[in-house]
Amino acid sequence: MATTSQNPAPQSPSGPDVRSVTPHGEDAAGIAHGARRVRVHHLQQAKERGERITMLTAYDAPTAALLDAAGIDTLLVGDSIGNTMLGHATTLPVTLDDMVRAGRAVASATRHAFVVVDLPFGTYEAGPEQALASAVRVMKETGASAVKLEGGRRASAQIRAISDAGIPVVGHLGYTPQSENALGGPRVQGRGDDAAEELSQDALAVQEAGAVAVVLEMVPVEVAERITEFLQIPTIGIGAGPHVDGQVLVWTDMAGMTDWSPRFARRYAELGRALQQAAADFAGEVRSGAFPSTEHSFQQ
Ligand code: KIV
Repeated sequence: MATTSQNPAPQSPSGPDVRSVTPHGEDAAGIAHGARRVRVHHLQQAKERGERITMLTAYDAPTAALLDAAGIDTLLVGDSIGNTMLGHATTLPVTLDDMVRAGRAVASATRHAFVVVDLPFGTYEAGPEQALASAVRVMKETGASAVKLEGGRRASAQIRAISDAGIPVVGHLGYTPQSENALGGPRVQGRGDDAAEELSQDALAVQEAGAVAVVLEMVPVEVAERITEFLQIPTIGIGAGPHVDGQVLVWTDMAGMTDWSPRFARRYAELGRALQQAAADFAGEVRSGAFPSTEHSFQQ
């Protein structure tokens, strides 16, 4: 995705630039081509030009630096941090403190990507005031570019309040994990004419409330395509088929960190197996005495 404004170097308030620890060096992908910080207007331009937007989740600085260096347009500090990183069964226990800490790490490690931070369950449902306070805290304390929250018409007053305060908001429709108890678990949403119509109304409400983009999760291909056609803002799909303006995956699914991944996620690597093998090799060499060798030791 082409961008137009100059980008500051990533801030490293508490240590060396994490980019220096990336195996690919500093300037892979977009950065080497003079890529700049992706902004809201670039997302909109991408939709208008028919350029697909890329989004992955990120929860920590070194991973964010790698994904940013790979040229990913947008990084989502998702509340999926709950199940992917923090050992929770769902996203529901995730707190605003969890999101702020992760958001700061991701934003400080990136120079290209548009960084979006999820508002977790319980930090915006009470109304526009609560939503705005949560969003302001995220923006003040993380350096991210936008927040994301779940819900259509029911969340439109919250989206309006945040957006009116000058904070870009990304919506999230279809299967919304924070409502998993009401929805009966991860199930396709918007199937059948009535449900598709409800989802379309939600999509319009999110746009009218001022959202800059909307995630469509586990939505039938045809419904996602129709919504993408009538919305002016970009749609980013996850399990929503190919006819949307961009695609998002949870990075641990995309990279094969765990044995299981959802049907809609393609595994582009088997990092879980590689990591387990590396740990087993380390353990074997420690036990046999092969590590550390002279090259890893200091002499008098
Ligand atoms: O939290 C998350 O990772 C998300 C994606 C599934 C879109 O919201």
